[in-house]
Amino acid sequence: MGFPINRMRRLRATEPLRRLVRETQLAPDDFILPLFAVEGEGVRREIKSMPGNYQLSIDEIVKECEEVHSLGIGGVILFGIPEHKDEKASGAYDDNGIVQRTVRAIKRAVPSLVVVTDVCNCEYTSHGHCGLVVDDDVDNDITLTWLAKSAVSHARAGADIVAPSDMMDGRVAAIRDALDDAGLTKTPIMSYAAKYASSFYGPFRDAAESAPQFGDRRSYQMDPPNAREAMLEIELDVEEGADIIMVKPAMPYLDIIRMARDAWDLPIAAYQVSGEFSMIHAAARNGWIDLDRAMMESLTSIKRAGSDMILTYFAKPAARMLG
Ligand code: PBG
Repeated sequence: MGFPINRMRRLRATEPLRRLVRETQLAPDDFILPLFAVEGEGVRREIKSMPGNYQLSIDEIVKECEEVHSLGIGGVILFGIPEHKDEKASGAYDDNGIVQRTVRAIKRAVPSLVVVTDVCNCEYTSHGHCGLVVDDDVDNDITLTWLAKSAVSHARAGADIVAPSDMMDGRVAAIRDALDDAGLTKTPIMSYAAKYASSFYGPFRDAAESAPQFGDRRSYQMDPPNAREAMLEIELDVEEGADIIMVKPAMPYLDIIRMARDAWDLPIAAYQVSGEFSMIHAAARNGWIDLDRAMMESLTSIKRAGSDMILTYFAKPAARMLG
């Protein structure tokens, strides 16, 4: 083996040859588009830090979902922004809450679109933390009861998958138990298993109006330097009954996606988060990178690392490019 017999450039010479030997292919049904539901009618409020993404009222979300479905996109994940927030995140597990009503409307209009719901409390608490705050910290075990109630009410409304993103210990087991007790044995859990306390969530907190009013999320989300710990988090979630495991964010954590892929045969999701999306847009707006190429390259790298599906704000433009 070696030069001049081997010339790696031979198979790169033309696009048809490159296509023939391409190892990773993206498809629209790899993508899950995050959507932000707000109260009102005809509301389509652009999120300043996330070009092309909007807070949408239910009627607008339904229209969006019809388009998403026609593009062949795999599904949507819903985040709710309630009108009223309180200490107990009541809106999160209200059967008539914003997410519950949105799910019902989508499933009525586009029944075959996969609807995932994010199960968390941070959009619903007055302080923006992901659970009940006791002595300046989020109380794990009481928060579990809220998460379980939310997951059941989402599934009852018709959610195809529930996705807990809070990083409380034991939440997958608590949710699985509650779903099963409610007869919802078929509802899968997509667990945000390895979710890091990341600076890349910045724009999302504008979109979901969920920035913590004090402190940060480092007492529950993972510390970015840790990789082995991510494997423990995933193992626990699998033991507790997770059907799909997620790594979040994606690009700064491709090593974690790869480690998870090598260790587990369950489907793996990766979340290309708001900051990953917005920085590509910002650089493109400055003329520093090409938006479409950077978008496709970033998504390809996340799939190449080993993910089966990608939660991404690029779902629509990427699906259009692939179409
Ligand atoms: C809720 C949640 C967050 C994201 C998804 N679910 C925010 C956070 O943990 O602060 C971030 C998604 C993104 O940045 O796109 N806990």
